Amino acid sequence: MLQIKELTKRYGAFTALDRLSMEISDGELHGFVGPNGAGKTTTMRILATLLRPTSGTVVIDGVDVLQNPRRVRELVGYMPDFFGVYDHLKAWEYLDFYARCYGFGHADRMRMIDQLLELVNLSDRRDTYVDVLSRGMKQRLCLAHALIHDPKLLILDEPASGMDPRARAEMKGILKTLKDMGKTVLISSHILPELSEMCDSLTIIDHGSLVFSGSVEELSRRMTGQSDIHLQLLPGDDSAVEAAAALLKQYPGVTGISRGDEDNTLLVAFGGDEGGMADLLRALLEGHVPVCGFHRPPMNLEKVFMEVTRDDG
Ligand SMILES: Nc1ncnc2c1ncn2[C@@H]1O[C@H](COP(=O)(O)OP(=O)(O)OP(=O)(O)O)[C@@H](O)[C@H]1O
Ligand SMILES: [Mg+2]
Repeated sequence: MLQIKELTKRYGAFTALDRLSMEISDGELHGFVGPNGAGKTTTMRILATLLRPTSGTVVIDGVDVLQNPRRVRELVGYMPDFFGVYDHLKAWEYLDFYARCYGFGHADRMRMIDQLLELVNLSDRRDTYVDVLSRGMKQRLCLAHALIHDPKLLILDEPASGMDPRARAEMKGILKTLKDMGKTVLISSHILPELSEMCDSLTIIDHGSLVFSGSVEELSRRMTGQSDIHLQLLPGDDSAVEAAAALLKQYPGVTGISRGDEDNTLLVAFGGDEGGMADLLRALLEGHVPVCGFHRPPMNLEKVFMEVTRDDG
């Protein structure tokens, strides 16, 4: 569905995108992750034909973005990170305005507006003025706007930013529906765990360059064994810590043990995968170590960046 090759964008002397290459297959939900200023919005604006790259190529569903931007606009639905919405229009009138721009007739528009409002859970806000909708509701209305012309590829720039947990969960549900409808979705965020939960594949960029692109499984395989296991021992039993430390020191694959922030917790650097973790836990229990907590927390984005870049270097 999408092929990006050697995409470069310079603003004057500043290189915002540096030979970025990535691909997305048909029907994929693809996460686009990077810290502030990484180049996500720049990339997405190029895909949406709103910005010309300095060099490189982008092909969407077989159509070259630079050579045939008009056709690409039919294929792509773009939801920007910041949007002005027209005030003094009701939610349905807002969608009707754009549907008219696309040349849909009255009956089609009325049917389509009802369907879109339902899809983004705004049916009960049909007659609410856009300017009094909450931020999360405006974002969903803009998503409905991006869907009017039934695009194959959706480009969503931080659609869940500023949403409360409930609205985020709703957004996840909407994305799943879009996937079930056969749409391909590129969605950006600077929150990796949130995207890795719902996406099939991910691209991570930093300072305009590719850090990682591939399936979520591939990323977690590369990450396995990188974060410490948090081992929590029965509180108030100091001998438990000693017993655990003695056992862990001898255990194959354990490369470091340190004290955690809380009393009676140990941080265990362990190279094994989940199977290895299960064996380690069994060994602790068989050694009569009073374990009351044992988990490997998901890595934060900063750590992932450091680990993935180190692998590449
Ligand atoms: N019109 C412009 N002129 C000059 N520099 C720009 C312009 N637009 C973006 N940049 C710079 O390009 C870099 C990438 O910006 P971009 O908006 O693509 O990042 P982003 O990954 O979307 O960040 P965020 O998470 O903050 O939205 C930034 O350093 C930004 O300052
Ligand atoms: Mg951005």
